Amino acid sequence: MILLFNLKGDTFISQSTAMTLITVTGVTICLVAFTKWYFSGGVCTSKARLDGKTVIVTGANTGIGKETALDFAKRGARVILACRDEQRAMNAARDIIAKTGSDKIVVRILDLGSFESVRAFGKLVNETEERLDILVNNAGIFGTALQGDGGWM
Ligand SMILES: NC(=O)c1ccc[n+]([C@@H]2O[C@H](COP(=O)([O-])OP(=O)(O)OC[C@H]3O[C@@H](n4cnc5c(N)ncnc54)[C@H](OP(=O)(O)O)[C@@H]3O)[C@@H](O)[C@H]2O)c1
Repeated sequence: MILLFNLKGDTFISQSTAMTLITVTGVTICLVAFTKWYFSGGVCTSKARLDGKTVIVTGANTGIGKETALDFAKRGARVILACRDEQRAMNAARDIIAKTGSDKIVVRILDLGSFESVRAFGKLVNETEERLDILVNNAGIFGTALQGDGGWM
């Protein structure tokens, strides 16, 4: 068995132990990198301009929805932030406007836990929007449960 020595000449680790440690470390790093890559999902890298297009993003006040709305706004779209909490939606709208300079950010109230809210949102969009090009059904949580008056989440 080959032993490794420190500068004073004391034995502190065998070569086989060192190889085991290096192998375990390498495999761990590969596993962590693979897991991160696998679960991080895809990334949209499109730079296509969306001027003249209208987009709805549900749950756009935070997380993936907000980032999606920000990207659409950067690319020139009229973006409707469909959110259940007006204050959180307004905060997100202010942030997106500050970052993009867009004057086409609209806040609309939509609580997907309530059919009444969904119908009111649909009616308002039909009455006030000339077109709808992209709908991002982002809002939600893991698992499904009926809430409120039966709206589906
Ligand atoms: N993050 C992940 O790794 C991951 C993985 C797989 C799938 N997803 C899915 O991707 C979507 C976004 O994920 P996220 O991580 O960005 O989630 P998040 O940060 O928790 O954001 C969820 C958004 O949905 C809104 N929302 C929740 N219930 C709602 C309702 N009843 N009506 C209207 N809006 C509602 C929230 O509004 P409030 O701020 O008012 O609560 C929030 O804006 C979710 O559908 C999630 O299940 C996420």
